[in-house]
Amino acid sequence: MNALLKKAKSSPRALNREELTSLLLCTEPEELFRAAYEVKLRTIGKRVSLRGLIEMGNLCSKDCLYCGIRKSNCNTARFQLDEDSVIRMAKWAYDARYGSIAIQSGEIESEAHTALIERILLRIRDFSGGKLGVTLSLGEQTEEVYRRWREAGAHRYLLRIEESNPHLYAKLHPAGHDYARRSACLDLLRKLDYQVGSGVMIGLPGQTETDLANNILFFAEKDLDMIGMGPWLPHPETPMGKDFADTLDFRQKQLDLGLRMIAVTRLYLHNVNIAATTALQTLAPDGRERGLLAGANVIMPNVTDTQYRANYQLYTGKPSLDENSDETRQKLQASIRAIGEEIIWDQRGDSPRYFQRKEQL
Ligand code: 5AD
Repeated sequence: MNALLKKAKSSPRALNREELTSLLLCTEPEELFRAAYEVKLRTIGKRVSLRGLIEMGNLCSKDCLYCGIRKSNCNTARFQLDEDSVIRMAKWAYDARYGSIAIQSGEIESEAHTALIERILLRIRDFSGGKLGVTLSLGEQTEEVYRRWREAGAHRYLLRIEESNPHLYAKLHPAGHDYARRSACLDLLRKLDYQVGSGVMIGLPGQTETDLANNILFFAEKDLDMIGMGPWLPHPETPMGKDFADTLDFRQKQLDLGLRMIAVTRLYLHNVNIAATTALQTLAPDGRERGLLAGANVIMPNVTDTQYRANYQLYTGKPSLDENSDETRQKLQASIRAIGEEIIWDQRGDSPRYFQRKEQL
């Protein structure tokens, strides 16, 4: 294991599939996390970037078998924030010195929605003088839509592939959800010069360690700038979650696997942005901080008004549902300081990999 970690630390993309798998399964995860943290310190520093997360709406045209806001779930009240509310939350994040925001919603493809996002982007550029970083996470769209949003000021886009094994992908989604299109969307985003992020769910039923290693190879193949991934959590209102026995033991395993994936991804890709996601925090109060110590460098604190939070439950048990954005900010600041890391305020926190690729071209 020491030899493997040494090789992984010395240069990016140094391991093969079997070696990635053996790190994922290693018997000394603390050693793994330490090695990944070392690489994170070298490539990023003792620094954490924030993205104020605006959960803009839960209307969705997709019916993913794991997701709490899937189209067929009638037990969630649907909402959509209006333009002024999104701007107010974006301003809050800007004034709170977060440096960047991420706007996320269910997947909607319509001219009205495209134009709404475009107007919001232009207003954000206007009030922040182009200083506030904007990540979009609005699903599969046409090239034209991605282009309009890019031109209106979005510069990062997150689109999780969810699972890069097309056979497993097909089991997680109903007919009509098209793996090839999702993958092609990542290529379009790259072509349009976004910083491109993707990721997977970890610990899915039927997902093997080899699948997980292949997911990391997929991140490399797409040459992603940002990775956002987290453990799968069974949601009782979904086909995959409804009869699932959710035990303490299961949650422990999901957390552990989530941290291992972060660490091995850091060890393989070195200088990308990796998020410590809310799903980790759902499994343990200090889940995100443990994610940072396993190699992540981005946290996405919620800046959505408290009243809407309960309706944006992709999985149940989401933390901070009854907290306001001020409380979320204060708690986070304290917990990050407690692990000896430092938040970088007022900066976009772009992915170093993005600039390195541009230099190499
Ligand atoms: N457990 C964990 N993550 C989930 N997501 C959706 N449903 C679940 C779940 N049950 C994730 C998907 C999606 C992101 C916004 O939330 O990966 O891309």
